[in-house]
Amino acid sequence: MSDLEYDRLFKELETLESQFPDYKLADSPTNRVGSAAEKKFSQHKHKVRLYSLDNTYSYEDLVLWYERLQKNYSLDFEPELVCELKIDGLAISLIYEDSEFVLGSTRGDGYVGENITNNLKTIKTIPQKTKTPLKNLEVRGEIFMPKSSFEALNNKQRENNAKLFANPRNAASGSLRQLDAEITRSRDLAMFSYYGRLDSNEINISTHSEMLDFLKKEGFNINNEYRVCKNIQEAIDYCKYWDKRRQELDYATDGVVIKVNNFMLQSELGYTSRAPRWATAFKFPPEEVSTIVENIEVNVGRSGAVTPVAVLEPVYVSGSTVQRATLHNFDEIKRLNINIGDRVLIKKAAEIIPKVICVTEHSTEKREPFFAPLYCPSCGTKLVNIDGEVNLYCPNSLGCPEQIKGRIEYWVSKDCMDIDGIGDNIVAQLVEKGMVVTPADLYKLTVDDFLKLDLIAEKSAQNLYNVIQASKNPPLARFINSLGIRHVGKETSELIANYFKTLDNLKHATQADFLEIDGIGDKIADSILDFFQNSYNNNILQDLQKYGVNPVNVDNSSGTELLKGSTFVITGTLSETRDYFENLIKQNGGKTSSSVSKKTSYVLAGANPGSKYDKAEALGVKIINEEDFFNLLNTDNKE
Ligand code: IVH
Repeated sequence: MSDLEYDRLFKELETLESQFPDYKLADSPTNRVGSAAEKKFSQHKHKVRLYSLDNTYSYEDLVLWYERLQKNYSLDFEPELVCELKIDGLAISLIYEDSEFVLGSTRGDGYVGENITNNLKTIKTIPQKTKTPLKNLEVRGEIFMPKSSFEALNNKQRENNAKLFANPRNAASGSLRQLDAEITRSRDLAMFSYYGRLDSNEINISTHSEMLDFLKKEGFNINNEYRVCKNIQEAIDYCKYWDKRRQELDYATDGVVIKVNNFMLQSELGYTSRAPRWATAFKFPPEEVSTIVENIEVNVGRSGAVTPVAVLEPVYVSGSTVQRATLHNFDEIKRLNINIGDRVLIKKAAEIIPKVICVTEHSTEKREPFFAPLYCPSCGTKLVNIDGEVNLYCPNSLGCPEQIKGRIEYWVSKDCMDIDGIGDNIVAQLVEKGMVVTPADLYKLTVDDFLKLDLIAEKSAQNLYNVIQASKNPPLARFINSLGIRHVGKETSELIANYFKTLDNLKHATQADFLEIDGIGDKIADSILDFFQNSYNNNILQDLQKYGVNPVNVDNSSGTELLKGSTFVITGTLSETRDYFENLIKQNGGKTSSSVSKKTSYVLAGANPGSKYDKAEALGVKIINEEDFFNLLNTDNKE
């Protein structure tokens, strides 16, 4: 039924129920309302653990997985498989008692999740009651937001100047973990069920495909694209089919889950410590999507690097809508032989920044080839080549408006001074009106100054003033990061802050001091020394001090060395903020990193972990939960 029809019937039912309250049923859809907002979700311990899945990325690995099953369990036949789309959403568990939906929870760490029953009650594809009488039933599946609803939600967020969601998965997660269930209800969420467990033997089900059919009959929404396959070759054909067609679906899928169909065989194969042996996930290769280059723009970064950017006809790729893709440098334009109007293939490099792979069709319109500019598009200064680098640079670092804007945008960003509310639009106005040239100028601004900007009323002017004033004492590491020193990013800033402890020590450091720090070499050391020798930079630092901008020194007095030598990567939702855990790790001598590699000692995984979890699994990196983490910090454990 269409949403429109559903809403009309819903309203009619509400009216009838208010006229004839005696006839209102306990499981009426109008009871799908959340209770008053709570402060925090309560925890729910899963009766049967929610395992994760092993991943494979190639068809050869799928064949090996199947052959291993046959060999290790001496199967002299080809076990039947079920292929399902792997839905990119959030895993949840639903408990039914005496046919009633009584409790729903997130996966959490697999053992304990969050009780989000009230929110789940607002989702139409979750039945409040099973069709036939059943004593105990657990159903698991994936909550997702259709791609079209995700686009509509983001359009609405944009209109309201609210934060945009990066992809449908984040939108689903954000919508589901609302303390006010009315917000969840207003979002278009749905569920695909892919697992059922009956405690009693009241119904005889012996295969996974029978279970899916049973769930469907009981009123659950299952994904109808599932297929029973006779052997691994048929499963591979299914994967190939959906790899080509996944873009046509209105929900995000990142692979195929392949499960042994027969329950007896499943229980014989059993589980490893992390995942069932009877199932595996085939992950699709990164999506490549075709679109048209509408324009090629030249971007001037905060360091003066001048780079070409392709402006694209918007397309949805690997979880979000893409409108711009980097072309890296002007040599790349030549290499790709790309021009405005061409049809291109794009994909997300490392899953984040979109990249143009190749031209698939040149525009029929005659156009001059696109040449690298000779002059800066922002300030008109002649561009230069720096030895050994392919990039072009605008050397007018102090006067070029785009570079100034870039530096101020960077200064206020989250990993720097974290001045929330000063968006790109405000920065652009402040720079264009000449009110801000250096970061220190931000602290001179008065409420009246903000009132001079377009679309800023009294209340927001006061607010902008307040957030700037409140940001004056950041931790030393963030302050160092804000300075935008070449080759010095977030992680290097932390190393430096932890070593020197105060800004003053850093200013007086020598080359030899820097080389003492593990992870810092000549290139970074030179760059920092250059920065502090530059009189323009020193003037800014003096101005900042004059306006009361002083970083907080690093105080290690309360720390330990319990985590010395260990590198942590954090993923998923934990009971405290990520900063909280990062600080604990650092205070105890450990390091943190944003990406998982073989060198990672531990991945600290909270609820609904992302791809870092999968990568850790693939690399065999130890994955720990919060409890394990606190055990590491427990001094009793140390010999
Ligand atoms: S079966 C023991 N089927 O993939 C088997 N999982 O890493 C457990 N997922 O968190 C899962 N679509 O949320 C299964 N059709 C599907 C799925 C699916 C998505 C998710 C699931 C889990 C993750 C496994």
